[in-house]
Amino acid sequence: MAGAIRVHATGGADTLAYEEVEVGSPGPGQVRLKQTAIGLNYIDVYFRTGLYPAPGLPFTPGLEGAGVVEAVGEGVTDLKAGDRVAYASPPLGAYAAERLMPADKVVPVSDGVSDDQAAAMMLKGMTAWYLLRRTFPVQKGQTILFHAAAGGVGLIACQWAKALGAEVIGTVGSEAKAELAKAHGCAHVIRYDQEDVAARVAEITEGKKVPVVYDSVGKDTFEASLDSLAPLGMLVCFGQSSGPVAPFDLGVLNTKGSLFLTRPSLMAYTAAREDLLTAAKDLFGVVGDGSVKIEINQRFPLKDAAEAHRALEGRKTTGSTLLIP
Ligand SMILES: NC(=O)c1ccc[n+]([C@@H]2O[C@H](COP(=O)([O-])OP(=O)(O)OC[C@H]3O[C@@H](n4cnc5c(N)ncnc54)[C@H](OP(=O)(O)O)[C@@H]3O)[C@@H](O)[C@H]2O)c1
Repeated sequence: MAGAIRVHATGGADTLAYEEVEVGSPGPGQVRLKQTAIGLNYIDVYFRTGLYPAPGLPFTPGLEGAGVVEAVGEGVTDLKAGDRVAYASPPLGAYAAERLMPADKVVPVSDGVSDDQAAAMMLKGMTAWYLLRRTFPVQKGQTILFHAAAGGVGLIACQWAKALGAEVIGTVGSEAKAELAKAHGCAHVIRYDQEDVAARVAEITEGKKVPVVYDSVGKDTFEASLDSLAPLGMLVCFGQSSGPVAPFDLGVLNTKGSLFLTRPSLMAYTAAREDLLTAAKDLFGVVGDGSVKIEINQRFPLKDAAEAHRALEGRKTTGSTLLIP
């Protein structure tokens, strides 16, 4: 038996109940992990509320963690008991002291990276990787707009974009977050709770606007994101912390300058083992050479996952948050 969070009915943070669950032995192709740190992500909120359907009820949330291999199942040849590993992948179930994982979804953790760092960066950092290196490959000298710049994905992505040579405009919801964003890659910060984002972007870029907007806020920022793009620009709509974007008229992309719009997901970009390993290698690389620092600004005991969710939804967190089993 091992401690785990379970959701018996979707809803508010109170639905996150701490229970003892049976873990079992790893089946073919699986490993059993003893987890040392678990990453908190906004997607966990979407599963908890039911915005994203879980495969069934009850379920254990969570898609990101780090720890040690305890046992390997039949056919697993490249991992052994005692190996340090991390992951950011389905199946759900990271909010647990111990769990089973498909062996081909975990990656070895480099010596210079701690378990806490790994759990704090795998999902958010590989997201930054595909956004900046695959969806819209950022070029040196480009000015880009990144919303929620002081968040988990935001702090990593803004540092990484700066390291790629971009001039980053970040949006944030408070002065303290503005300072943090400036210290982590943003050349300019816009208070999107107080300022007109598109007008400020036009001002900063002397009317040129930006070739790409990375938007994980969704409903509240969608219009301003489209209005911040230069002709042929791309809106990368990768989340909805303020709520889902309403259905809209495709003709708008035409009238606003032949714009591109995409709604990507990390899971598609790392579905192939080769892509997962490339993403992890590039991420460990930028963390290892110091161009990206992983800021773990909140830690909660696993049993207090509800409190962690309230903090995340209440916009009280910055950088990465860990749940400790
Ligand atoms: N598609 C993918 O592959 C993928 C992968 C990872 C994450 N994501 C998405 O990326 C986003 C960031 O994830 P994260 O885990 O790093 O979270 P996070 O950015 O640390 O937290 C969300 C932030 O969004 C901002 N926000 C704006 N309006 C909000 C509202 N009405 N309610 C709550 N927050 C609001 C807040 O920052 P301010 O106070 O500064 O406004 C808040 O801190 C999420 O939307 C997530 O779903 C997508």
